[in-house]
Amino acid sequence: MKHWQGIINEYRQYMPVSDSTPVISLCEGNTPLIYSCNLSEITGFKVYLKYEGLNPTGSFKDRGMTMAITKAVESGAKSVICASTGNTSASMAAYSARAGIKSYVLIPDGYVALGKLAQATIHGAQVIKIKGNFDKALEMVIDISSKYPIALVNSVNPFRIEGQKSGAFEVCGQLGQSPDALVIPVGNAGNITAYWKGFKEFKNADKISYLPKMIGFQAEGSAPIVRGHKVDNPDTIATAIRIGNPASWKFATQALQESNGYINMVSDEEILKAYNVLTKKDGVFCEPASAASVAGLLKYHDKLNLKKGSVVVCVLTGHGLKDPNIAISQSSEIDEAIEPTLDNIVEKINF
Ligand code: F0G
Repeated sequence: MKHWQGIINEYRQYMPVSDSTPVISLCEGNTPLIYSCNLSEITGFKVYLKYEGLNPTGSFKDRGMTMAITKAVESGAKSVICASTGNTSASMAAYSARAGIKSYVLIPDGYVALGKLAQATIHGAQVIKIKGNFDKALEMVIDISSKYPIALVNSVNPFRIEGQKSGAFEVCGQLGQSPDALVIPVGNAGNITAYWKGFKEFKNADKISYLPKMIGFQAEGSAPIVRGHKVDNPDTIATAIRIGNPASWKFATQALQESNGYINMVSDEEILKAYNVLTKKDGVFCEPASAASVAGLLKYHDKLNLKKGSVVVCVLTGHGLKDPNIAISQSSEIDEAIEPTLDNIVEKINF
């Protein structure tokens, strides 16, 4: 059996690398595509979950980060920077540690899930909290990286998109065809851009014979693309996609237009409902932002212009453990500790 060595090695002919490029990898990618009986039954489609939470740092960002850090090291960069709602920073911190370079992150104070913060700090990134949201943080790091010798690794860096397009390659490989539709949460809009690029490249290489519809969902309080204007104070419990002015807005719109796609928004309540459906019926634990894709599918499946039996892939972008506070807030409280007698314990069990 071939040993999986990460997305750059796996898809080398589609990646901007040469034989001398020093590949920095944690063997990212190769994540499972899980069939969902429950969602298929509800929607009448064949629904699959692309579980990106099983990447090395627990999110899809690793696909882009292996490429961005590899290219930063190749160009001689000694340090990297990003703005982040959490996952990008966790990924940047891990890949930078592996590469032996310094990393810095600007985060919106109070709006980064606990697991992500733990990852960024334990891998040695310097975390700079700002009194402002992600959009402000991104503006700042773009400015800083244009004036100082530090490489920017947000998805405005085209190498991030190159790496992330591997998600589309994998989905096609796993299905043996293109899906009919790809459903994805949209924040800064890098991932929808990357998937669309990947599908198009596979079509041009004759690996697939048709292209999927791209279907994006934003959180109601952070839905600039759906509303058609910037949102000054974006808000949602899905902090990963708490973004009011997506950097790849234009490319997302292009993907939606070219694929005859669809974009809409879901409320926090709908996101949490989908999150609970996934954890309780599918046994799949993703973070709230990821559940936005499933929330949208549940809410709008009749409006997507897809035939019964269509193959639909929902991208679950990050692992549920990223945001333990939300998980706990959604669960019933655990009772106080009891004396470990048989009677006491049997009393607790509903036989
Ligand atoms: N899902 C998760 C779990 C994310 O972390 C993000 C983005 C998205 C979806 C949206 O992807 O931005 O490409 O449209 N997180 C970024 C971050 C902003 O800083 O980690 P997008």
